[in-house]
Amino acid sequence: TRLHLTRLTLTLGALLGAATLTSAQARTLAEIKASGTLKIGTNAEFKPFTYFEGNTMKGFEYDLGNAIAKQMGVKAEWINQPFDNLLIGLNQNRFDLVISSHGITPERARAVDFSLPHYCSGGVILSRPGGPKTAADLKGKTVSTQVGTTYVDQIKKVTGDRNLRLFPNNAGALQALMSGRVDAMVNEKFYSLEALKLNGKKLQQGETLFQEKLGMAVAKGNKTLLGAVNASLKTVQANGTYAKISRSHFGQDVRCR
Ligand code: ARG
Repeated sequence: TRLHLTRLTLTLGALLGAATLTSAQARTLAEIKASGTLKIGTNAEFKPFTYFEGNTMKGFEYDLGNAIAKQMGVKAEWINQPFDNLLIGLNQNRFDLVISSHGITPERARAVDFSLPHYCSGGVILSRPGGPKTAADLKGKTVSTQVGTTYVDQIKKVTGDRNLRLFPNNAGALQALMSGRVDAMVNEKFYSLEALKLNGKKLQQGETLFQEKLGMAVAKGNKTLLGAVNASLKTVQANGTYAKISRSHFGQDVRCR
């Protein structure tokens, strides 16, 4: 499975490039407004950002995306996809906007256009008590994470390719840690806090490996939509809506300072 996933990642990288070249016209702001619906892609297994409770989607990014759509005068329609399908799907116009905690990286910015960061956070180490807690501790240790994420390169840096264990979703990566198949996991700070809350004394949080700015993505060149998303984000950040949503999920305001 591991080799298979590594190959999959490479293929997806190639597809992402191809999709950019061949992408049909993305919907403009005027077309989205005329339709009344903003289609938002996300990977909803990432509590507290977007996740399902029964059949209901919830989370910080879910609430923020709805607030931004409302600000634009449209209704949000959420589409749940595997994380590493999202930017490809965006360039195939399967949705207008992606809100799924994407770190703004130069590589991704070649394929899509990013909004202003909608929050700032970092990747942290999670392990079982007695396990690795620092970047130095991770050397030579096996580490799990979700395929296609920014955590992949960070893990490779500290422990090398052969110790990386990739999973299609976060639940699998966490399960591998809980069951002792890997020594540690690297994931989003708030996702990890959530895992700690649920798993009490069975897990511990280690140091923050790196910081990142997270942004929403539109298809490359979709200037009208990007302008409206940025303007709406600024408005909800200025009028108290953002702070209220953020505090309800994190107990703090997570905007970049
Ligand atoms: N912040 C990380 C990245 O940029 C992970 C995002 C994972 N998001 C998710 N919805 N599963 O790659």
